[in-house]
This record gives sequence, C-alpha cells and structure tokens, in this order.
Amino acid sequence: MPMPPFRPPIWGAAMLRLDRIGAGYGRAQVLHEVSLEVAPGEILCLLGRNGAGKTTLMRAIMGLLPLMAGAVRLGDVTLSDLPPHDVPRAGVGYVPQGRRLFSGLSVAQNLDIGLMAGGQGMAMREDVLDLFPRLRDRLGQAAQTLSGGEQQMLATARALCLNPQVLLLDEPTEGLQPSMIAAIREVITTMRARGVAVLLVEQRLDAVLSVADRVAFLEDGKNGPVIPAATLREVRSIAARYLGV
Ligand SMILES: Nc1ncnc2c1ncn2[C@@H]1O[C@H](COP(=O)(O)OP(=O)(O)OP(=O)(O)O)[C@@H](O)[C@H]1O
Ligand SMILES: [Mg+2]
Repeated sequence: MPMPPFRPPIWGAAMLRLDRIGAGYGRAQVLHEVSLEVAPGEILCLLGRNGAGKTTLMRAIMGLLPLMAGAVRLGDVTLSDLPPHDVPRAGVGYVPQGRRLFSGLSVAQNLDIGLMAGGQGMAMREDVLDLFPRLRDRLGQAAQTLSGGEQQMLATARALCLNPQVLLLDEPTEGLQPSMIAAIREVITTMRARGVAVLLVEQRLDAVLSVADRVAFLEDGKNGPVIPAATLREVRSIAARYLGV
C-alpha cells in the first residue's frame, strides 16, 4: 500500500503496520488477514458496520487480544511481541469505545494515570490541558459527573498524556452534540499536524470525510478497499451536482 503523496515524511516518526493479522475470541476468529498502514501525520479512518470487527482490531493492536496470525509493528518495534502493558509505553494511545474512565476518580487523577503510564511529567499535563481547556476548569471533579462530551475529552486527554506516536480512537463522536464533535476533531487534526499517526474508527462516512486522509473499509473482518478521502469527497460533490443529492 503506497504512502499518501501529499505530506512529507516526518523524521524519527514511525509507521504503524498491521501485517495480515488474525484475531478473535476463543475459537471464533473475527479478523482474517487484515493489513493496514498508518503513516505519521496521517488520519486513516476505518469504517465498517456493527460487528465488522473494528473494536476487535483496536484491541488486537493494543495486545488486549492475542493474535492468531500476523504481526503488528510500530517502526522497528514488533508491538505484538510485547506484553499488553508495554504497548502504551511503546507510544500507542488508545481511546476505547464507550470511554472506560476510572469513574470514581477525579479528572486530575485520570490524567495522572496517563502520565504515569507514559513516564511523562507536568509539562505534558499542561500541554494536554491547553488542548482541552474545559478539563482545566474541572480538575477536581469526579469523572462520572462529567457530561458525555467532557468524558470523551478526558478519555482522549488521558491517551494524549502518553505523548503517543500513534493514537487509536474508537467511535469518539458517538452520541455527542455537534460542538463537542468539533472540539474532538480539532484535537485530532492538531495531533496529525504534530506527526502522530491517527487510526480513527467510525461507522458513517459523513462523520469522517472532512478529517480523513484515507478511508479503509473493514468488511466482515476482512480488508475492504482503501480509498483516498479526497477521491471520496470529489465523488460525493459530483454526485451532489448531477443528482441533486
Ligand atoms: N468478548 C467477546 N467475546 C466473543 N465475541 C465477541 C466479543 N467481543 C466482540 N465479539 C464478536 O466479534 C465480532 C466483532 O465485534 P466488534 O466489537 O469488533 O465489532 P465492531 O465493528 O466494533 O462493531 P460496532 O460498530 O458495533 O462497535 C462480533 O461478531 C462480536 O459479537
Ligand atoms: Mg466497536
């Protein structure tokens, strides 16, 4: 799969590569020979229906599910050879579907967990709070009392506290109002500009077309087409012009 030609490579940053991975639960295999590459400074959107295996793919990258076949690499490091707790330390931030915060802990304590996992200090915390000013005003508040959008911000902020090279986001805008969706998107594009490789899972093309560089389809646990987002945007605008849709 060729790298996108529209952005120069970033020195020192590493490519995320899934090489024909298989994964599943017990004997039920969900993913079959899935290959993907996400370049530094790229947003790759993974689209697929309910049950296609998108969350399973994220969990497989994080080492939370053992691989049945293939390998996951970040640059020269084979992530799939590491124990699961070393994957975040290797530079992979994960924002799971449904947020999974430590709900009884405060905003500050949730961020501290991210900082500790990545060996980062207060400078990183300040940097992340600059991206999410709403969280700065709520540092002492228990995570469970935040609004849905604020919880999504906290889950994202916690992942960014690792100073990740790769960011995995599983349906981050699910159920959020437009202003919150815009705020999360802005942070995602900021991360891209800093050279992070972003893998963004969503269910609807509409939700990703404005931020994606490429769109990869996952169909029944297998690779579907991978299409530059610019092509999809163009097709859509042509369809709108001629069909009035
Ligand atoms: N813990 C589990 N044990 C057994 N099967 C599971 C488990 N989690 C998911 N599955 C199955 O794996 C398949 C893929 O599920 P997955 O959650 O990866 O889909 P998804 O693409 O993320 O869907 P959605 O868009 O609904 O989030 C489904 O058939 C699901 O029932
Ligand atoms: Mg899912």
